[in-house]
Amino acid sequence: MIFDTHAHYDDKAFDEDREELLSSMPLKGVGLILDPGCDVISSKTALALSEKYPYVYAAVGIHPEELGEDPHSALEEIQKLAAHKKCRAIGEIGLDYYWDVSRKEEQKEIFAAQLALACELDLPVIVHNREAHGDCLEIVSRFPAARGVFHCFSGSAETAEELLRRGWYLGFDGPVTYKNARKALEVLAITPLERLLVETDSPYMSPVPMRGKRNDSSNLVYIINKIAEVKGLAPEEIERITFENGKRLFRIS
Ligand code: NI
Repeated sequence: MIFDTHAHYDDKAFDEDREELLSSMPLKGVGLILDPGCDVISSKTALALSEKYPYVYAAVGIHPEELGEDPHSALEEIQKLAAHKKCRAIGEIGLDYYWDVSRKEEQKEIFAAQLALACELDLPVIVHNREAHGDCLEIVSRFPAARGVFHCFSGSAETAEELLRRGWYLGFDGPVTYKNARKALEVLAITPLERLLVETDSPYMSPVPMRGKRNDSSNLVYIINKIAEVKGLAPEEIERITFENGKRLFRIS
């Protein structure tokens, strides 16, 4: 069975066929899904989906690009939502300097506040980091008790090594299947099997040969196949190992 540790089924891209699609997942070999929220509304939707499907779990959090007008009151809401029994992480949280750096300081502040919350609640975090490697590392270092995953890791092998040394997991997505995937493949090569997670980031980032289409968890097979090739193992082994890794990190029995 496959564990997709990062899929946004709360996204409007699934409004037309969400139920049909989620119901079909076990038949397609997908045994577990974690849906991370990006703001209060999507965190609530992720939790509602987790109530409906036994194999769906949720994370709650404020994404750096979704700070909204009042991130501080949003944080209070997130804290309440985190008490839900199927909430297994704080996420997705982090820094994103790719599109908009006008709220850089606020991004850092809200990221740090959510890391503090995760430590207080003893929950793992799901980190989004785009073009912000230095600041991201600096902030997570302030929280030595924080644990979790750097989702869709896009940094250098050097940064990856640093994170692995500190006990973090790394998430691999569609980009490992892309033609220009050199950096992601280098990182994959040095990531020990017990720290690997597989994720789709649905509806985004479809792997080859589905690139350009809406993504869903059944496409994880293409990512698993590529990882298996790099690691010199059978796809079934990668599937089994990443399933166990996800269950361990998110405390799913
Ligand atoms: Ni995401």
